[in-house]
Amino acid sequence: MLAPEDDARLAELLASIERQSESFLGYPCTRDFDYSPLFPFLYYPLNNVGDPYVETTFRLNTHEIEREVLSYFQRFTHAPVADTWGYMTNGGTEGNMYGIYLARELLPEGVVYYSEDTHYSVAKILRVLHARNIMIKSLDNGEIDYLDLKETMRVHRDVPPIIFANIGTTMKGAVDDVQRIRNIIKELAIPSCYIHADAALSGMILPFVDDPQPFDFASGIDSISISGHKMIGSPVPCGVVIARKANVERIARSIEYVGTLDTTLSGSRNAITPLFMWYALHAQGEQGFRAIIKRCLEVADYAIEAFAQDGIKAWRNKNSITVVFPRPHAEILKRWQLAVHQDVAHLIAMPHVEQRHIQALLTDIRKFSGGHAAI
Ligand SMILES: Cc1ncc(COP(=O)(O)O)c(C=O)c1O
Repeated sequence: MLAPEDDARLAELLASIERQSESFLGYPCTRDFDYSPLFPFLYYPLNNVGDPYVETTFRLNTHEIEREVLSYFQRFTHAPVADTWGYMTNGGTEGNMYGIYLARELLPEGVVYYSEDTHYSVAKILRVLHARNIMIKSLDNGEIDYLDLKETMRVHRDVPPIIFANIGTTMKGAVDDVQRIRNIIKELAIPSCYIHADAALSGMILPFVDDPQPFDFASGIDSISISGHKMIGSPVPCGVVIARKANVERIARSIEYVGTLDTTLSGSRNAITPLFMWYALHAQGEQGFRAIIKRCLEVADYAIEAFAQDGIKAWRNKNSITVVFPRPHAEILKRWQLAVHQDVAHLIAMPHVEQRHIQALLTDIRKFSGGHAAI
């Protein structure tokens, strides 16, 4: 039992979170979910320790559900089922670390190439893994600069490239052209390479649009990381990583203590998040997600038009729900929880974002720029 003041503290925190969630426009996390039927699972010390495909002596797990979630993502990313393997991570960052870890084990001499627009966590991952790396320029729309990439790889063509491809950059939602990168590697006659796809948000967008950019195993990637708490939605951060089985087998070690294979980065792993993902994937179905993505893209286009009517140039990349516009007043950033990088800001048309939010944001922008919204 909690003391009354502790109860009051929690109630206050909840009320504040509820209030803040009404102006949550700048980050790629949907608040549209209801997992209350799963709450009884919270009474057990569940743990998905180890490899989801291997039986363990720790039976209070949801490995079977996790494997089903993974098979959805194998389908979404056109991963050959017999030749790929995966697990549920704590989020996009862990999946990216896993991809680069596999690549470095496979190609210890390799150089990791990644663009300026890459998520900030990747520089840290490269330091942790002590992986040789070179940052490549970005184009204005956020894609990697293919000419700079080609010239840099040409200079270092004696070492295998490890491409860290952004499938939807954090700030501009830009998708690096995996096919074009593969062609460059071929033109340079480089015999081996590894391509990891960071598809944190767009990994749950591109499978559901009519004309996706190449991003999947069919386009030649070797691993992919997708966040679960972003487009699918989860009260606890989570994600999925899928990689080629032959590469994973090179790092697998058998551990007697838990009677399983140590193929994952974390030992103890979240067993609740696979339930959230499974629930959402079953409740919505693939058609449901197709409809959700279509609506998000419509809201993004609505925002671009509404901004244009107020004289503000807002834009988005193809198949992206990230709407980029000039950095507004600091008070607007705070009020609407907008992410910024140098002179640009963005809003992300996640499933909970509606036209009324865009209108309310524009009203505030007008207020803070003396009656007219032009920034
Ligand atoms: C492109 C990209 N990669 C990686 C990440 C990190 O993902 P997570 O927050 O799930 O660890 C993000 C987060 O926004 C992202 O936008």
